Amino acid sequence: MKRAVVTAVMCVCATVGVSGSVAMEQDTGAATRPVAATTGPTLRRAASGVFPIGVAIAPKVIRDDGRAALAAAQFDHVTIENHMKPALVQPEPGVFTFEAADEHVRYAEAYGLAVYGHTLVWHNQMPKWMFETPDGTPLDREKAVANLRAHILAVAGRYRGRVRAWDVVNEAIRDDDHATEFLRDTPARKAIGDDYLALAYTFAREADPAALLVYNDYNNELPGKRTRTLKLLKDLEARGVKVDAVGMQLHLQLGWPSVKVIEESIVAYHEAGYRVMVTELDVDVLPRRRPGGADLGAVEKGDPTMDPFTAGLNADTQTALAKRYRELFEMLVRHRDKIDRVTFWNLDDGTSWLNNFPVRGRTNHPLLIDRILQPKPAFEEVVRVLREAGR
Ligand code: G3I
Repeated sequence: MKRAVVTAVMCVCATVGVSGSVAMEQDTGAATRPVAATTGPTLRRAASGVFPIGVAIAPKVIRDDGRAALAAAQFDHVTIENHMKPALVQPEPGVFTFEAADEHVRYAEAYGLAVYGHTLVWHNQMPKWMFETPDGTPLDREKAVANLRAHILAVAGRYRGRVRAWDVVNEAIRDDDHATEFLRDTPARKAIGDDYLALAYTFAREADPAALLVYNDYNNELPGKRTRTLKLLKDLEARGVKVDAVGMQLHLQLGWPSVKVIEESIVAYHEAGYRVMVTELDVDVLPRRRPGGADLGAVEKGDPTMDPFTAGLNADTQTALAKRYRELFEMLVRHRDKIDRVTFWNLDDGTSWLNNFPVRGRTNHPLLIDRILQPKPAFEEVVRVLREAGR
């Protein structure tokens, strides 16, 4: 099986990439096979020696020959978008469903891509039983801690030595700058208390001592959330827990937030002694009623004015997107000594989660590769910036 896939890579990878010329984007919504190109630029080649560059993968990528080959040609690592999340790998107590996660890891290993694990504790896609009774009451602390430990040992233990870093805890910090408490009141916190984070990192270290342990969040480039993140990391250190890296998701919008704010946060995390990983990069080009991030509770109702690019991105917005990515990457390469990796959240516009958030069923264009798997002007800009940095 593995041999067959690798052979396919040798045939496909050498000939399939994003083609050298920039095609006009046509939003058919249909996936087509990428245009074969032997000489087309690739992000991974351009980023070589700068920082690792990767992509979140899902079944719709790894089970689609064209996308599977494209992801492997363009990127050097993957994050598994959904299929390592607790509700998907342990839906019932002690019942583990690793088939899809295993399939993603096999894909990555067959193509020689590094794997990043996502995620061991979150407030979304958690099985209810882990921290709550059926009527919603928090479990006794002892039981909840035992569930947390068993889950982390089983999952991080299974992939020990095969996952470079784990997003151990995801999105534990509140968004509200004025709240008196700074931790989100999740089922894990309600059952265990504030030290559920320290315990999670301790269990992850036990499960896979060599993996880097990441605290991952959205909007942690903004000053308020950055302050709370640094406080959390300090609190963890006081409990004897050292987190290796801050995961900055960077779910951005065209005009928000500024590159300067992102830069200040990269520097601040670095100066506090943490590696920085850009874990979930994309740039939403569609209107939102409230600015950004990835608070999955912040869904919005759509109307036709909220979905202006169903027939394709207009030229002005295409140019603005390219400029946004260029300015971002110009800053990122200046701080390459602080940045462990940059990972895009999804491969192409057709498979982006932003087609369904914050409004369901829109046509978004947040990535470097369009729906027909062609490079956008933003792709060319990013390749150019990376190449110049790599010289
Ligand atoms: O697989 C089912 C399918 O069987 C069902 O028919 C369909 C109906 O809605 O749902 C499908 O599951 C969806 C799943 O994505 C796979 O597409 C879930 O409803 C949907 O909620 C889930 O969304 C994911 C979201 O996390 C919530 O877990 C997104 O794909 C994923 O990109 C997103 O990723 C998060 C990171 O984990 C953390 N940071 C923010 C980021 C974006 O929200």
